Amino acid sequence: MHRSTWIVVLLVLSAGCATPGGSTESEADTSWVPPSDPELVALRDEAVTILDTFCAACHAGDAGAAALDLRKTDMESRLIDVPSTQVDTLRLVDTIAPERSYLVMKMRGTKGIVGQRMPLGGRISEEFIEDVEAWVAALAEFRAGTRPDTTAPAEK
Ligand code: HEC
Repeated sequence: MHRSTWIVVLLVLSAGCATPGGSTESEADTSWVPPSDPELVALRDEAVTILDTFCAACHAGDAGAAALDLRKTDMESRLIDVPSTQVDTLRLVDTIAPERSYLVMKMRGTKGIVGQRMPLGGRISEEFIEDVEAWVAALAEFRAGTRPDTTAPAEK
């Protein structure tokens, strides 16, 4: 009976997920937490500072534009693998398919976005967009394991 008990537990667990069953790779587990690798932390700090500087004037708190809060504190928890409200099939920052990150698409004015290119009514330099992209790309590399986490405990 142990085996069927496990099946029940798994069913209960998967019922709590946003996309139960039959999910493709890119819809898979969204509970990934980025490592505290110093290289990644530095890229994150850079990106978060840029977004806070150029975007938080409008994107502040739940009442901010498009309910998107781009203020510095805990910003990554509101971006990483979080669905866009405009195009809910895309994530703001996609750690599996970084090129499909809606946040970057909005800054680049990529085909497929809803609404205007960001920052609305303003401009942000190519260099800053690339800094944000570098963070997003690094997240995907750490997740895929193609960039090793220097803070991970050594393998036995
Ligand atoms: C002047 C105000 C303003 C500024 C500055 C601004 N935004 Fe926006 N943003 C909006 C408004 C309004 C919308 C909804 C309408 C639209 O998308 O055109 C929006 C929507 C968005 C969305 C869609 C959110 C979702 O969940 O689908 C993203 C992503 C976004 N902005 C990113 C940014 C980024 C990144 C910056 C900074 C580079 C920025 N915005 C700067 C006003 C602003």
